[in-house]
Amino acid sequence: MTSAQQSLRGRTALVTGATSGIGRATAIQLAREGAEVIVHGRDASRGEQVVAEIAGALGKVRFIAADLSDPTEIRRLADEAGEVDVLVNNAGISWFGPTADLDVATYDALFDSNVRAAYFLVAALAPKMAAKGGGSIVNVASMVAAIGIAGAAAYGGTKATLAAMTRSWAAEFSPRGVRVNAVAPGPVYTAADPARIEALGATTLLGRAAQAEEIAQVITFLASPASAYITGATVAADGGRTAV
Ligand SMILES: NC(=O)c1ccc[n+]([C@@H]2O[C@H](COP(=O)([O-])OP(=O)(O)OC[C@H]3O[C@@H](n4cnc5c(N)ncnc54)[C@H](OP(=O)(O)O)[C@@H]3O)[C@@H](O)[C@H]2O)c1
Repeated sequence: MTSAQQSLRGRTALVTGATSGIGRATAIQLAREGAEVIVHGRDASRGEQVVAEIAGALGKVRFIAADLSDPTEIRRLADEAGEVDVLVNNAGISWFGPTADLDVATYDALFDSNVRAAYFLVAALAPKMAAKGGGSIVNVASMVAAIGIAGAAAYGGTKATLAAMTRSWAAEFSPRGVRVNAVAPGPVYTAADPARIEALGATTLLGRAAQAEEIAQVITFLASPASAYITGATVAADGGRTAV
């Protein structure tokens, strides 16, 4: 089902990590809004499934595979994507556990995938958006950037960094028409660890975790002209968990 007045018709959107979870739901919703979507991920077979779902009913779409832990792959993704109007930095990994149990390689992998990839995609794509006079960048942070959760120090650190970069990028690019915002989801039912998501969901004001589509709605709003006066913001989509 497409919305009557498609707010992103004629726009191109790159969604990283769109082969599953929040990114997949976002790619589908952006396509419903009329955007030509570039689905990104590592897993080509899941990528092609998302492409088939969108191409069958919703519009123009293609898949680009790239491992964002590798800076040369980030550059290749930016080159192959070309000019985009919307960039959703969603790809990411998590690790939860006692601080003393995290090895250096996993620590580096967290920051490489969650922080460095977003940084260099923005570096490659935001100046081109600014030169065209507009665009929207949405970074997927997390509620653990704002509250302390035992076992989430490194992961929360990556997401707090992303929220800080969101504000600085807004300062840098919004005077030239590029809005930069973040969404900070609470627990979301995706592939990982349902018991942990369920338990965290119970601590929210709404008493439950979110569906990926509920986060995708917020990302789509921030990507679209409906949020024309919002930039530099981190929007909590966490069932009220960080409000109290
Ligand atoms: N689920 C939650 O409770 C929750 C809460 C707050 C924030 N978030 C954030 O929301 C975002 C999406 O999470 P999700 O739960 O939807 O996760 P997910 O279902 O595991 O999906 C993660 C996506 O990121 C891609 N990805 C990860 N590392 C990558 C890399 N190095 N290079 C390229 N692609 C990479 C994966 O691609 P492939 O599978 O194709 O390799 C996949 O498409 C993440 O940034 C996460 O931190 C999630």
